[in-house]
Amino acid sequence: MTSRILDGDAAGWRSKRTGVKWGHHPPDVLPLWVAEMDAAPCEPVVEAVSAALRRGDTGYPLGHDFVDAAVAYAAQTWSWTIEPSRVTPVTDVMVGLSELVRLVTDPGGPVVVSPPVYNAFFDFIDMTGRRVVDAALDAEHRLDLAVLDRTFGEVTAGGERAAYLLCNPQNPTGTVHTAAELEALAEIANRHGVVVIADEIHAPIVHEGAFTPFVSVPGGERGVSLMSASKAWNLAGLKAAVTVTGAEARDDLTLHEVHTHGASHLGQIAAVAAWTDGREWLARVTAEIDANRALLGRLLAQDLPQIGYAAPAATYLAWLDCRALGWGDDPAAVLRERGRVALSPGLSFGDAGRGFVRFNLATSPGIVTEAVERMVRSTRES
Ligand SMILES: Cc1ncc(COP(=O)(O)O)c(C=O)c1O
Repeated sequence: MTSRILDGDAAGWRSKRTGVKWGHHPPDVLPLWVAEMDAAPCEPVVEAVSAALRRGDTGYPLGHDFVDAAVAYAAQTWSWTIEPSRVTPVTDVMVGLSELVRLVTDPGGPVVVSPPVYNAFFDFIDMTGRRVVDAALDAEHRLDLAVLDRTFGEVTAGGERAAYLLCNPQNPTGTVHTAAELEALAEIANRHGVVVIADEIHAPIVHEGAFTPFVSVPGGERGVSLMSASKAWNLAGLKAAVTVTGAEARDDLTLHEVHTHGASHLGQIAAVAAWTDGREWLARVTAEIDANRALLGRLLAQDLPQIGYAAPAATYLAWLDCRALGWGDDPAAVLRERGRVALSPGLSFGDAGRGFVRFNLATSPGIVTEAVERMVRSTRES
């Protein structure tokens, strides 16, 4: 029998992990916050990275294998044909994304986002000295095309250069944007001259519907996509990502060659192994996450029906509406204090996240169950 990937208990994971997820909070707090998995590693990745270390292959990367593996994975998985010359290795998704923001906007210029959206978008826009402009998702957590049209019109009215950060699929809601939505987004963005930078890091884990790469839709050729193996294969510590520039992107979207200096050789070796030989591991972990999506639904319906939950169509992140509990803007603080369970505060994903929390499903069913027990306990204490 094949063993589980998402297994184990809190004591076991705490003894095996030295990173931020298990180290940030005190030991009595159960951590289901940052987007990392409590997962047994993907064996082909372990073998490839260990072999590289053993032979001392720890110099600067050449990058060709990495680019070829990204191109092959996109073709096999999404029938997405990428011209290798349009692929640039970068340190990681957020470094690539912020460099692209610097290229296509000016200091102080507008960068539009659709909250609730990946919390680091806000910090990295701030770090680049640009300004965040919200065009929130609608009540069903889908792109609000009318709001995007109006917002793009407003931010470009004075002649400023603008970018839109698409999160596809969307962290924290798990929304899988449809081809029709993306095509409509491309039309609106192109009409207003806004450059779409698509963060597609979560694309390999989809439970319902199908991922569509933004630059593959009609009109999307003027945008740019960012891909990485780091979320789906749990390799965040092994830095490496790629940008894929659309076929009709403006010249100002081309990253300087020097950016490739940042991508780690071991990170690239890990990603090549994941994209090439990690499909079986990915299928298994996706099935385990899928089961956890259902488990969380059952537990909440039974023990905490006040919480609103729609199983995420993609990713391993669940977006929970805690507003009916009456705990104000930051229920994550109440859960941490009373229940000793750390979920991500909804507010960190933008104003639209008031009263919400993000729950990380990439852990064992036992830990999911314990987390809900701690949440229930939080409702009993005051
Ligand atoms: C949507 C999204 N983009 C980017 C990242 C971070 O990627 P990287 O570590 O490659 O910068 C994350 C991490 O959780 C994420 O959820």
